[in-house]
Amino acid sequence: MRKKVTKAIFPVAGLGTRFLPATKSVPKEIMTLVDRPLIQYAIDEARAAGIEEFIFVTSRGKSALEDYFDNAPQLEAELRKKGKDDLLALLKSTDMASGAIAYIRQDKPLGLGHAVWCARRLIASDEPFAVILPDDVIDGEPPCLKQMVDAYEATGGSMVAAMEVPRDRIKSYGVLDCASEDGALVTVRGMVEKPAPEEAPSNLAVIGRYILTPDVMTRLGNMKSGSGGEVQLTDAIAEEIGGPAGVYGYRFRGQRFDCGSKSGFLQATVAFALSRPELRDDLLDYMREQVALDRAAQ
Ligand code: UTP
Repeated sequence: MRKKVTKAIFPVAGLGTRFLPATKSVPKEIMTLVDRPLIQYAIDEARAAGIEEFIFVTSRGKSALEDYFDNAPQLEAELRKKGKDDLLALLKSTDMASGAIAYIRQDKPLGLGHAVWCARRLIASDEPFAVILPDDVIDGEPPCLKQMVDAYEATGGSMVAAMEVPRDRIKSYGVLDCASEDGALVTVRGMVEKPAPEEAPSNLAVIGRYILTPDVMTRLGNMKSGSGGEVQLTDAIAEEIGGPAGVYGYRFRGQRFDCGSKSGFLQATVAFALSRPELRDDLLDYMREQVALDRAAQ
C-alpha cells in the first residue's frame, strides 16, 4: 500500500514585496478575501485532502500568522457571554488540533526550493508530502489538493498542479514539457522555470500545489541556486523525471486566483464576495454603477 499524504508544507517566508507597504507589518498570508485570511483557505483545502500536520516555513515579521492559529479564550468568552453562537462556531471552525502545527524559520529568502528544504527534518525519509502556496487560491470542488491526492494514489510519482496560461504570461511560471496525457493526468518529460515565451515547451504552467516524494527533499539538499539566484523547487522535481516513479502534472478542475499579485487578489475578493448571498446584490449594484459610469466617461 502506498503511504498516505498526511503532511503539508506551507512556505510563507517570502518578502511579499508586491504588497508593500502593507507587508511591512502584515504577512501576505493574513490578508483577507472578504473576511478569511489567505492562509485559512489553504488550511481548509489541506484538511479536505486528509492533511493532519501543517508545517509553516516562516521568516521574521510573520508573528501575526502564528497568533492567528492561537486560541482566543478572551474573545470566545465574550462571544459566549453575549450569546453570539454563530460567531463562536465560526471561530471554532478555525481551531487547529494541539501539536498539529509546526513553525520552521527560513533564515534568508533563498527561494521556494530552499524554503521547502528547511522543513526536511519534519518529513520522514519514506514519506510523501504536500506543498501548498497560500497565495495561489483555488476554488474547486473537490478542492484541488484532494483531486491531486486521489490521483497520486494511482501514480505514486511527484505531482504538480497544472493550468494553461496565455503565452504572454508564461515567463512568470514553471512550464511543463508533456510526454503524454491521460484525462487530467499529464506525464512530464521536462520542466523549465520562467522561460521566454518562444522557448516555452507548452502553455501548461505549474501552480502552487505539489505532492512530492521524499527523494525530492533529498535532491533539494544537493541543489545549487538556479534561475534568479534562488533554489528552485521545479529544478529538484525535474531531476525525478525518468526515474522509476516519474513526474506528473495534474490539470485540476477549479478556478485559480493569483493572490500574490494585486490584480489577482482583487479578482478573488470580488469572486468570493459574489459567492456570499449577503453581499452579492449590493456588490453587483455597485459594479453595474461603476461600469455605467466608466462607459459614460468614454
Ligand atoms: P513569491 O515568488 O510570490 O515571492 O513566492 P514573495 O516574496 O512571497 O512575494 P513578492 O514576489 O516579493 O511579492 C512564492 C511562495 O514562496 C514562498 C513565498 O512566501 C510564497 O508563498 N517563498 C518564496 C518562501 O517561503 N521563501 C523564499 O525564499 C521565497
